[in-house]
Amino acid sequence: MCLVVFPFKKENPQVVLNNVKIAAEHPRVEEVLCVGVEKEETYRSLEQNIPTVKMETNTEINLILQERLGNKRPGKGDGMNTALKYFLEETDLERILFFDSDITTFAPHWITKALEGADIGYPVVRHYFPRASTDAMITWMITKTGFALLWPTSELPWIEQPLGGELLMHRSVVEKLFKEEDVISRSDWGIDTMYTFYSVMYGFPMLEIYISEGKLHKLYGKLTDLKTMLVECFDTIQSLKDKTFSLMSKNSSMENLSVCNGGIVHRAEHPHEVPADVFEKIGFDIEGSMTLLMENWTSKMEELLDLFPRRVRDGLLANKKGPSFSFMDEHTWRETYFVLLEHFDATDEDWQELIFKLWTSRVLCYTTTIALRGYYFAMRYLYSMIDRYMNYSARQIIKKIKRAKKDENNSST
Ligand code: LAC
Repeated sequence: MCLVVFPFKKENPQVVLNNVKIAAEHPRVEEVLCVGVEKEETYRSLEQNIPTVKMETNTEINLILQERLGNKRPGKGDGMNTALKYFLEETDLERILFFDSDITTFAPHWITKALEGADIGYPVVRHYFPRASTDAMITWMITKTGFALLWPTSELPWIEQPLGGELLMHRSVVEKLFKEEDVISRSDWGIDTMYTFYSVMYGFPMLEIYISEGKLHKLYGKLTDLKTMLVECFDTIQSLKDKTFSLMSKNSSMENLSVCNGGIVHRAEHPHEVPADVFEKIGFDIEGSMTLLMENWTSKMEELLDLFPRRVRDGLLANKKGPSFSFMDEHTWRETYFVLLEHFDATDEDWQELIFKLWTSRVLCYTTTIALRGYYFAMRYLYSMIDRYMNYSARQIIKKIKRAKKDENNSST
């Protein structure tokens, strides 16, 4: 039996309640837990309506507020970690499932499918969804790119949607994660990255299940809607950048690079249909995002740009006169990313605005040169971009190992 959790903040209460009901009606769900941020309207409405759903479904449903467990911005991470704490301390259930509360396409088979994956032995089951070619731009350009550049031979870059909030974890996974300081302190949008990273770090087998009807939620307007998420997701990757997998230090040699370094059992269900609206959807307001490149410049940002390759600095600065983003191709973004890993300061407002502009120029470059050419072209491109990043970084690592071996041989003779 399992616990189903819906973390929420301000949402349409009818949507949340409907999802709670679907979960509570599921024969394999023992308890549903809603975790709110504060006692605002959504919370009060749930408080009022949950007793009826409880009665109708004869399932335990609880509503709690998230605790302050972490030390970053109090956000989704505190909510999810509060649920982990509740799961460990207040229940003896075997499995916990998380779902975003604002989904309008949620259905019972989302639960069934995940539980069936767990039944055949996967302690981590993640849902993944078809997404528009201009959606998921933090996932592709920040998270998957970072995983590919930093841990190219691990399983991390292969995970379809590492930022997804829909997943199942076995109690043994939760026990490990809940002891991890990095996880507990991550109270903000970085939490999904932390759960993904540490479940791979601990070597838990993972199954990804495909939900073809997709996860319908509202689309972003201008890319500014995503600024906080972007900063927090990058900050998380940056905080992990010096981590190596224990498997790697044990066996790292060129010969077995492919099987060490965080290689886990990881299977992903083949994606079936892609619904028509996913082909047609535009992920964000393109014109509005272009003007964002031109606004909010400070002299400190201009100074910070000196840290970057010249074409990045000149290309981005050109926005003071008119839109400029085609310089930020795949190769330039890789170089930019490494500079960011080294110097970015998530607590500094100028850095926040600068990373936002750099990422926006990457997204606009991709949108106008690649996504423009159609859904399948764009998807093929995104996957192969990650392949190229992995390949590049893996080669750098191999070179380093070879060099180190050579030095060792030289010094011993
Ligand atoms: C992502 C956010 C934008 O996955 O939903 O990139």
